[in-house]
Amino acid sequence: MKRVLSGMQASGKLHIGNLVGALANWVKLQDSGDYDCHYFVADWHALTTGYAHPDDIKASTEDILLNFLAAGLDPDKCTIFLQSKVLQHAELHLMLSMITPLGWLERVPSYKEKKENLDDRDLSMYGFLGYPVLQSADILIYKADYVPVGIDQVPHLEITREIARRFNHLYGEVFPEPDALLTDFPKLPGTDGRKMSKSYDNAVYLSDDPNAAEQKIRTMMTDPARQRRTDKGDPTKCPVFDLHKVFSTEQERAWATEGCITAGIGCIDCKKVLIAHVMELMEPIWEKRENLKKNPDLLKHAVDKGVAKATETCEETMLDVRKHMGF
Ligand code: TRP
Ligand code: SF4
Repeated sequence: MKRVLSGMQASGKLHIGNLVGALANWVKLQDSGDYDCHYFVADWHALTTGYAHPDDIKASTEDILLNFLAAGLDPDKCTIFLQSKVLQHAELHLMLSMITPLGWLERVPSYKEKKENLDDRDLSMYGFLGYPVLQSADILIYKADYVPVGIDQVPHLEITREIARRFNHLYGEVFPEPDALLTDFPKLPGTDGRKMSKSYDNAVYLSDDPNAAEQKIRTMMTDPARQRRTDKGDPTKCPVFDLHKVFSTEQERAWATEGCITAGIGCIDCKKVLIAHVMELMEPIWEKRENLKKNPDLLKHAVDKGVAKATETCEETMLDVRKHMGF
């Protein structure tokens, strides 16, 4: 069976954008039965930008693991684990760091962007530059065939392939080159119309209760032209409509479009349809979250089991790596 691997960085709570853009796809891959799936929380990666607040990383890790199970990842069907519990990732990261040219890392677009944008913290750190090396170790140590990620991660995948090639060239054939499995899902807009992101405080979180989630959508920004109920609007200028594109049916979108441009409906009417869809999507997740919170052992067992399995696989790869490198 081909192996699938993906990770989620522990730098915030999961929101519905992460759910529909990534996690739901992971569940689908798992349920297809066609792949040997590995999914993990990248808590070490969160240190690259969050090194000053490790408590936040812990809270985020717990939220994400809970949501993994609540959204349908099943420890009997896939391997669920925590990066920091599988120490071999760190060992391989060290080996790979020895053979990765600085130039490759310096030209990664997310490195430059984040360094400029997150100007509230000092990111002139070794670990931050090495982010893609650690990610490469995460992937290569499982000899993963496919890595389901968004388009923003493609440069990281490209470096992973380059590092694999370089390793194989220097020490002998150990690592297959993984392929990205692109989830070409549009980024969801947040409540203020910018892309949904924990850093903008505009997200609907999986940990929000139904009332909070509904309230966020009710007060979400719309086409600014619709100040009053009688003002006509343009759905292409409205972030609510972008959510309709993801959650609603074609008929509902036609209804919303017609109602919006003629002022036949109000924005609350329009949002109610959306709210119903989000509620339907979230209800089973909320229910499972409550159950998991009441039974913390379920989560602990799932992760322990995944960590044990991942460790076995990693140790096997590392035996090979150490042998090839002469250790
Ligand atoms: N960089 C990924 C992100 O920000 C997280 C990640 C870490 C990852 N290691 C990985 C993704 C390995 C896929 C495979 O979302
Ligand atoms: Fe947006 Fe719907 Fe209001 Fe039009 S009617 S502005 S699409 S929320």
